[in-house]
Amino acid sequence: MSQRHPVPAAQVPAAGQRALLAIGGQSIALFNLDGHFHAIADSCPHQGSSLCAGQLQGRVIQCRAHGLRFDLASGYLLNSTALKVTTYPVEHDGEQLFIVIEDPAP
Ligand code: FES
Repeated sequence: MSQRHPVPAAQVPAAGQRALLAIGGQSIALFNLDGHFHAIADSCPHQGSSLCAGQLQGRVIQCRAHGLRFDLASGYLLNSTALKVTTYPVEHDGEQLFIVIEDPAP
């Protein structure tokens, strides 16, 4: 089961920007790559640093703590499947943006 969480319009990042959101009890980094949105957990799977504060290069976010780079679409460490940051589907309904969060397994 999953839940769609609306993103308040004031918190939707402009093109090329990012926003740190608290949604569904999660800290989520939302990136707007020229109209393509990607949502990831704001916690690096290496040692937990904020990925929202990382350096963005195209679709890749580089963690500021130790430099690991993650693909925003897949969540995987670049050129590896050794580490993965949680990704969240982003859906549109007209102008409204939603982040979809899976319910935790029972
Ligand atoms: S905490 Fe992100 S690379 Fe180490």
